[in-house]
Amino acid sequence: MARDVSTARPSRAPRTPAATSDRAVWHGTAVPDYERFARFYDAAMDDPRPRGARVLRSIEGYLPRAASVLELGCGTGSILAQLTALPFLTGLDRSPEMLAVASQKVPAARLLEGDIEEFWLGERFDVVVCVFDTLNHLLTFEAWQSMFDAVYDHLVDDGLFIFDVNTLGELRRLSEEPPWVFEFDDHVLIMDVTSAEDGLSQWDIRIFEHVGGSRFDLHHEQIGELAVSLQRIRTALEPRFTLLEEASDSGETPTDGSVKAYFTCRRAP
Ligand SMILES: C[S@@+](CC[C@H](N)C(=O)[O-])C[C@H]1O[C@@H](n2cnc3c(N)ncnc32)[C@H](O)[C@@H]1O
Repeated sequence: MARDVSTARPSRAPRTPAATSDRAVWHGTAVPDYERFARFYDAAMDDPRPRGARVLRSIEGYLPRAASVLELGCGTGSILAQLTALPFLTGLDRSPEMLAVASQKVPAARLLEGDIEEFWLGERFDVVVCVFDTLNHLLTFEAWQSMFDAVYDHLVDDGLFIFDVNTLGELRRLSEEPPWVFEFDDHVLIMDVTSAEDGLSQWDIRIFEHVGGSRFDLHHEQIGELAVSLQRIRTALEPRFTLLEEASDSGETPTDGSVKAYFTCRRAP
């Protein structure tokens, strides 16, 4: 996930927060990811339209006849809501709270609760999408590889896999910066990223919900992210996917120092 904090902290580039795994050993929350955050997510996060537009551009550019899409980690459905030109929309997410929001926003989509690390839905799709650093939410590279396997199994022969990641450099930079504070509606969001070794980061998300007068309720979640080198990603994709496009935010070939890396791949037959 991410939010553009440029309005809150002009010195800082648009950011992307993260999500957690209940298998993660290094963050201490007992609250499942996004359980509390879901209610505030859309108001607190970035405008999803540029993300959706980027996905649409890839589909139109590389598989204009696409009719079915599966979004992994669909969250509140903000991307699926922009893909309604495709008749068959499916979203998979493990957070019932996020899916509840999505079901209101994209009633046409089929929404499934489950883990994107390992899944089998018994069908294939023209396009699989996994964006807004959802892949970073899987906290081991083995889990990323397992997800790549599942994506391969769920794509038609020339199907597209569209995803993005937060880079190693971005998560390191975020951890070196002070927490950012953002006001939305009457509430306050504070996000603080800390990094451990091996590309792991922890996002502490505190929402002070204004409940009247000078009273606030505090909601706290800890969400983990893993970043790996782009070369490691390319190598893991290589046998099964052809890389069609790889870009940074500025449209150039991304490096491990870029903010984000956007990938569009085609399933090899
Ligand atoms: C940052 S949000 C992105 C939501 C959406 N893709 C968007 O662009 O707005 C990450 C989503 O991934 C989901 N998620 C994280 N890890 C997951 C996992 N292992 N299995 C299923 N969903 C997961 C979270 O519940 C959350 O809804």
